Amino acid sequence: MHYNLKKSINMYEDAKKYVFEATKFSNAILERGNGCYVWDIDGNKYLDLNSGQFCLSFGHNDEGLQDVISKQLKKIYHTNTATLTPQVLKACKDMAEITGGSLNKTIFLSTGSEANECAIRYARFITQKTGVLSFSQGYHGLTLGSQQSTMGGAWARPQSTTNYSIDCFSTTKELEQFFEKVIKESNDNIAAVIVEPILAVGGILIPKKQFFIKLRELCDKYAILLIFDECQTGFGRTGKWFCYQHFGIEPDILTCAKAMGLGLAVSSVTFKTEIAQKIEGKIVHFSSHQNDPLSCAITSYVINRIKNDNLLKNIKTMGSYLYSQLLNLSKEVEFISGVRGTGMLYGFDIPQEISKDFLSELQKNGVLLQAIRQGRTCRLSPCYNIRKEDIDFLTNQIRETSKIISCNKKY
Ligand SMILES: Cc1ncc(COP(=O)(O)O)c(C=O)c1O
Repeated sequence: MHYNLKKSINMYEDAKKYVFEATKFSNAILERGNGCYVWDIDGNKYLDLNSGQFCLSFGHNDEGLQDVISKQLKKIYHTNTATLTPQVLKACKDMAEITGGSLNKTIFLSTGSEANECAIRYARFITQKTGVLSFSQGYHGLTLGSQQSTMGGAWARPQSTTNYSIDCFSTTKELEQFFEKVIKESNDNIAAVIVEPILAVGGILIPKKQFFIKLRELCDKYAILLIFDECQTGFGRTGKWFCYQHFGIEPDILTCAKAMGLGLAVSSVTFKTEIAQKIEGKIVHFSSHQNDPLSCAITSYVINRIKNDNLLKNIKTMGSYLYSQLLNLSKEVEFISGVRGTGMLYGFDIPQEISKDFLSELQKNGVLLQAIRQGRTCRLSPCYNIRKEDIDFLTNQIRETSKIISCNKKY
């Protein structure tokens, strides 16, 4: 495969001194996208396994989204925070339909971090307590408030008297003991537990169903609010609308982002009706981009499209195919192991020392993939309409890349 980045490198060199490098940038400068694929300014084509930053459920340049946005832009796209539009009312009803059960009342915001800030703030307000429990490898965002519960990875916050971390692989007995200890130590000052049903940034870690059932039971016992952060797992990513629906329990508060905005900044917080009624009308959270009609029109479009195109089915069938192909690769390639995941969210492990070379060779072979856990886990979060031929292309390119890496053996 011919691969050249001359234009990208020159363009970056020219503007480099004006660009703040908050993160290390990829050396390819992207120009356009279509479906699961993107092209850089040098004309190289890539299969985007990250679906942007895990947001593009229908792939790049979705035409339906373009229509929704242009229609809404011509009507009304932003209002005063205390003003309603038909789009807000519709999106709230649509959310209640896909959550089902008693999670009925939604507010729309901008980012996942903001949704989690909002959920935690309300939980503290309702319970008049301050402590929050979260997973030791969990990720809930990096605004100052949400970061307090981000216990894993490079940004981890230390455990403190108001923030405790739970091991997501605890047995139900260990979980019971942990709650007893924390309730005692904190003087019964725990407002909420915030957890991801699958820890995505933490390394695609999948706690057991029994764990969540026990967690629900313990939250009820100690009058603690249970928040599920479904910023990565929501809106179909795991083959159901929300991942908690696999467990037969409901959280008290549900947060969501990423896939619901198709790459635009849309997030949500959904409360059980009985919880919402305790706090409605009290201005605890307030933002300039609260219930923006544009965000709401996008949310309703996403829900409608997932239903009409039967995408939950495609997520399950193509997801199983992707999983089986990754399992085959782990048998063939000596440095690939630990294949795990569900729906359209997978991970596999590689040795940290080859991670950089593996990902950059893969990029030269036309595949964009990210690694987490300091390079030790590759995370795949494809768009929902990925086809069999895209998955075959992916597995073939991983196979070819692995041959190069195995030849340069440093692991
Ligand atoms: C589970 C989870 N929660 C919250 C966030 C933060 O979302 P945002 O980056 O939109 O603030 C992320 C982002 O990756 C996430 O994975």
